[in-house]
Amino acid sequence: MAQIEQLERAGLEAIERAATSDELERARVAHLGRRAPLPNLLRSVAQLDGDRRALVGAAANRARRALEQAVERRSAQLSAQELHARLVAEGVDVTLPADPRPQVGRLHLITQTRRQIEDVFVALGYEVVEGPEVETVHYNFDALNHSPTHPSRLPTDTFYLDRAGAPLDIFDPDAPLLRVHTSPMQIRAMEAQPPPIRVIVPGRVFRPDSDATHSPQFHQVEGLAVDEDITLADLKGTLLTFARAIFGEQREVRLRPHFFPFTEPSVEVDVSCFACAQGANGRCSLCRGTGWIEILGAGMVDPAVLGAVAEHGYDPERVQGFAFGMGVERIAMLRHGIPDLRLLYDNDVRMLEQF
Ligand code: DAH
Repeated sequence: MAQIEQLERAGLEAIERAATSDELERARVAHLGRRAPLPNLLRSVAQLDGDRRALVGAAANRARRALEQAVERRSAQLSAQELHARLVAEGVDVTLPADPRPQVGRLHLITQTRRQIEDVFVALGYEVVEGPEVETVHYNFDALNHSPTHPSRLPTDTFYLDRAGAPLDIFDPDAPLLRVHTSPMQIRAMEAQPPPIRVIVPGRVFRPDSDATHSPQFHQVEGLAVDEDITLADLKGTLLTFARAIFGEQREVRLRPHFFPFTEPSVEVDVSCFACAQGANGRCSLCRGTGWIEILGAGMVDPAVLGAVAEHGYDPERVQGFAFGMGVERIAMLRHGIPDLRLLYDNDVRMLEQF
């Protein structure tokens, strides 16, 4: 009996001392496992006789239950402690500062401006079409009524492409070049569909120029409307809508006579200054005190241009229209007061982030 008591005390002590679930499991095996002294003793009780068997058996059983209950209690305590420790260790500190907002990209100012211009004309019923950047003398000059002596045709003003060593002939209609304007798409668009037509043509154009206001490649948006009863008043109204959408509701437009080979009459179009009170400030850097800023070239489509696509349904006796062309960079620079064209191409995020 004394031995049973001693085994029970030793077992309870080991169970209470166990500081982790693993230690508790080892204590359980040592005191209640198949080879432990108390279960061994229980198994040998059968060999005792009579009263003694009942007495010893009851005492040993009580001791075993006491140990089993102690294991259960300690196990519950330990797993609660261990769970708590894990929750503390894995806890999320919601008071820590958040990660800085990730850098998100954005559209380049040239793309934004091009899309704004497109939106204005799409709302007026125009279709957006694009054309090839490598053009021919025919589409870039001849079909647009450029005289053979027009200086912009010279290799100093136009990038011609090499044709496998063949000598350059700037009067060959098929001579390939990088288009100097989006105007060739006037011809291609009319070849592709009969009148009435209303298209705008955004795109990249190329000229051998480079300084603060010229870049060897830049962007234009061309416009063309041809129908049976289009007048210069329609051109002016259309461009007024455009100017107000892009430069502000208070704007006016002014047409000044000019010359382009593909329009007759031709005009340069000014928008009223939005930086000063219309010339009130004689030192305004945008309009230089004139109150007006040039934004684009335009005019009524020359009958000779319609004649170049007459076989596609453009009879100059029956239809007429207007055309215009503007520089996307120029519009962006005017709108945002950007002093140097090259800033648009330097890819300096300190600049790009401002738009
Ligand atoms: N193509 C001209 C240029 O690049 C711009 C232009 C002027 C386009 C008048 C037109 C127009 O369609 O009618 O300078």
